[in-house]
Amino acid sequence: MTNSDTITDQVFDVESIRKDFPILQTKVYGKPLIYLDNAATTQKPLQVLQTLEKYYTEYNSNVHRGVHLLSQQATEAYEAARKKIAAFINAKHDHEVIFTKGTTNSINLVAYTYGRKFLKEGDEVLISAMEHHSNIVPWQIICEEKNAVLKVIPIDEAGELQMNEFDKLLTPKVKIVAVTYVSNSLGTVNPVREIIAKAHALNIPVLLDGAQAVQHMPLDVQELDVDFLAFSGHKMYGPTGIGILYGKEKWLNDMPPYEGGGDMISHVTFAKTTYNELPFKFEAGTPDISGAIALGSAVDYIQQAGIHAIQQWEEELIAYAYDKLAAIPSLRFIGDARHRAGAISFLIGNIHPFDTGEILDKQSIAVRTGHHCTQPLMELFHIPGTVRASFACYNTKAEVDELVRAIEKAKRMLE
Ligand code: ALA
Repeated sequence: MTNSDTITDQVFDVESIRKDFPILQTKVYGKPLIYLDNAATTQKPLQVLQTLEKYYTEYNSNVHRGVHLLSQQATEAYEAARKKIAAFINAKHDHEVIFTKGTTNSINLVAYTYGRKFLKEGDEVLISAMEHHSNIVPWQIICEEKNAVLKVIPIDEAGELQMNEFDKLLTPKVKIVAVTYVSNSLGTVNPVREIIAKAHALNIPVLLDGAQAVQHMPLDVQELDVDFLAFSGHKMYGPTGIGILYGKEKWLNDMPPYEGGGDMISHVTFAKTTYNELPFKFEAGTPDISGAIALGSAVDYIQQAGIHAIQQWEEELIAYAYDKLAAIPSLRFIGDARHRAGAISFLIGNIHPFDTGEILDKQSIAVRTGHHCTQPLMELFHIPGTVRASFACYNTKAEVDELVRAIEKAKRMLE
């Protein structure tokens, strides 16, 4: 069954979900933790923690290298995780799913290998003004090396892409479009179907940064027809240090390897090395085996809760939070997109976001403050940063009420 077949009227019981996350019982400064920094990293359910423990206590061993039983068990679990992830995003082939360290690593892999092979002097790479540094800097590095040009799709005041400008920027000079599905700073959901269709009309491949999307909405790479998709395990209830690059087989086969080392080779001599087939060609060295297997458990967890049910609950929660926050005098939203997911960014009067963040922290509320690794975006808004509340499936309306109460307290103290 793919995401799109999943039953949409699945019951979502947030209180029972919360019981799966031991850390939500933690007290911060003597008060129950209210964790609203999920865009930075989500908490992990017991099911994922138990998978990590089971791996290290029962079958820790290297993959693809040993004939002994433990190595076979580790290899089977590692490859089963790949299958789960391929099914989760509906990849056509399991070998289109590459284990990486995370979104940043996945984007660097594409920028470096695709860029090395396909970019020449005067070519263009098209990104957007709301990209995370991880979807800006790798492209800058390869553009500099190849004398190619980095172009940027502008955004409007609401934090939405200016699609008429995109149309003008999308010329045959562009060799790849790399945009985020959901903005980590603003929560804007971008019109990626339109972007992909228009780019494909000119035979230009598209990379999506899915780091803030896969945990919030169903995502089907075949239906989107996207060429590359990057995302991280730790933002979708899995461990840190593991992530995914999905790539269409034809691109991955055409691209040179990224790193050299064990597992990515077919045959090595001092004169010449031939490379392994997909996916191993892009998985040099001992991978994060436990992380990959535990990411498989995180996917199981999401599938069991139901990604449609999660999406429905989070949309309700965000609409609730938006209305409550909008009622606070002097609070202004940074980014006000019609379609948003995951995060809400705001500022209160002239109060510096760090000061608000500190006062919220003392009231046991974890939010992220600052530029959120999107400095060019902050410059566009002429602000030093924002306060960002970001949500996961275990957050509640009562937590939003506490956030509002804590912001009102911060206002009284600082304004
Ligand atoms: N990219 C992560 C965030 O937005 C770290 O917080």
